[in-house]
Amino acid sequence: EQIEKGGFEHFMLKEIYEQPRSIRDTLRGRLLPEQGLINMRGIDEYKEKFLNANRIIIVGCGTSWHAGLVGEYMIEDLVRIPVEVEYASEFRYRNPLINEKDVVIAISQSGETADTLAAVKLAKSMGATIFGICNVVGSSIARETHAGAYTHAGPEIGVASTKAFTAQITVLALMALKLGYMKGTLSESRYMRLLIELNSIPEKVEETLKCDPITRYLAEIYKDSNNALYLGRGYNFPVALEGALKLKEISYIHAEGYPAAEMKHGPIALIDENMPVIVIAPKSDQYDKIFSNVQEVKARKGKILAIVNHDDEDIASIADHIIEVPETENIFSPIINTIPLQLLSYHIALLRGCNVDQPRNLAKSVTVE
Ligand code: G6P
Repeated sequence: EQIEKGGFEHFMLKEIYEQPRSIRDTLRGRLLPEQGLINMRGIDEYKEKFLNANRIIIVGCGTSWHAGLVGEYMIEDLVRIPVEVEYASEFRYRNPLINEKDVVIAISQSGETADTLAAVKLAKSMGATIFGICNVVGSSIARETHAGAYTHAGPEIGVASTKAFTAQITVLALMALKLGYMKGTLSESRYMRLLIELNSIPEKVEETLKCDPITRYLAEIYKDSNNALYLGRGYNFPVALEGALKLKEISYIHAEGYPAAEMKHGPIALIDENMPVIVIAPKSDQYDKIFSNVQEVKARKGKILAIVNHDDEDIASIADHIIEVPETENIFSPIINTIPLQLLSYHIALLRGCNVDQPRNLAKSVTVE
């Protein structure tokens, strides 16, 4: 096992550090920026179904569901087809309205999650086209779908998903770019710009990993918290959910992810000097909005830890702590911003003496209901 961990103390840390490579592997052979091409056979094969779809429904559980939410923002933004994201367990039991004009994207690291598999079978029986995004080759969900694209993240051993999540977002980005270009909803110049930027993401993830020492330092400060609130807007709202889930899963600190603007409809009542608020605030057209959300937290004496870009001034000047990450296109920023949140959870869990790779009561793959 020590050999498998490749010198890291835990599988989770090893898998966090593998992300530049796993994202590169997921892009390899698919993203060809010099030729302005994205190769995805599964999409070519079902091109008509995708381009004429009335809507796209994304199903998944846990972290895979969070990736689906990022996919919703990407596909609606670039492809202009309505997207719904559903917990597989809810979808399968709510007598959903599905027909042959729908495309269902099933996301699953293991490809064995019982609820996701059942949702796939149900949608298939109702005539929908099913596209799978799985990590495990030949898994049950992969076999049940009409087409798909594997995430080439390699085996993920840590129960809390890390590299599978960023690989899933990478596949969704490729899909949204390819479909948007094919549908004509994405201009050639924006398409090319995004292709080039996506190609640089593995390098930017590598650079982001340099925040490890600061997350370790911050973990000392935040490790005894009883609660934490994660806030993000737009593409980074799902990142807030995923950050909170990571903390809950491995450190057993109660955490909630919220869309930053929704805070005033409830969670703001919880904010006092004991409440850490982790704000995901890269440069984007919603930056000013999130800045005012941060001011609202500050006015109530909440402790603010902000994930910001290197040249940030406004939020950085009022936050208690910051973690700086490289700037990228808003649509790819969930990949970058997730990295410090994974590391923060890891270090907090470690300091609290938790079993990072095998948290209590959790399973890597939930093959029963
Ligand atoms: C379990 C795992 C999570 C995972 C979820 C969905 O709860 O602990 O890490 O996100 O199942 O798994 P899947 O294999 O379908 O992505």
